Amino acid sequence: MKKIIIGNFKMNTVPSEFKPYAMTLATKIKGTKNEVVICPPFTHLSMAREILSGTQVLYGAQNLAEEERGEFTGEISASMLKDLGTSYVIVGHSERRGKFKETDKVVNKKIKTALANGIKVVLCVGENLQTKTSKQANAFVRKQLEEALRGLFENELESVVVAYEPIWASGTGKAISNKDIVKMVETIRNFVGELYSEKAGKNLNVLYGGSVSLSNYKKIMSIDCIDGVVIGGASLDVDNFALICKEKY
Ligand code: PGA
Repeated sequence: MKKIIIGNFKMNTVPSEFKPYAMTLATKIKGTKNEVVICPPFTHLSMAREILSGTQVLYGAQNLAEEERGEFTGEISASMLKDLGTSYVIVGHSERRGKFKETDKVVNKKIKTALANGIKVVLCVGENLQTKTSKQANAFVRKQLEEALRGLFENELESVVVAYEPIWASGTGKAISNKDIVKMVETIRNFVGELYSEKAGKNLNVLYGGSVSLSNYKKIMSIDCIDGVVIGGASLDVDNFALICKEKY
């Protein structure tokens, strides 16, 4: 089965390291049926266009401005990303929500701006440890989805991939059980089903992210109800990442 595999570099690597990485990845994954997307820092995207155009590796951004243009020093707009051939943008990553105080309202605006510019969205949702231990995770994620998707039409969901990234499992190396993943992915599908239609919930692309690595990706990818994974730390090693990307699932 075809899976979607997103590499989130976060604030790692410099542009000069990116060229060999991108060339190696494109060569190594040739012929894969999976959709492979790398999301390097903004500074690498114009090089991504040069190296990756015409290959099977798509590229995305890790963030975008909620506004389209104007007096927003330091921001990067959706049209700038589009002009560089960016296919995807990550919106609402827990690091942006937590460290940069991005609210659900901002997330919703960013999604609309990306979609209006023809860029697909990887919408990240997920609870922290406290919310999980107080058994509030389902309600929390449902609320994040409701706010993020507010005002979106059902047909726009084709361009939205939801990534379930429990904060307690991200960057920690801590394994999460398949049972926990299945439970939340079902919650997400059911909720989108309630918001739109059963078909919308069923067809939604849902990914899992959080400490996916060479040692656990097979177990995680064996879950039927997920369409792929988001990989942070383990995407930085091109050989390991390529192995995960070219596997047949
Ligand atoms: P990780 O990061 O794979 O390093 O846990 C995933 C993410 O936060 O997107």
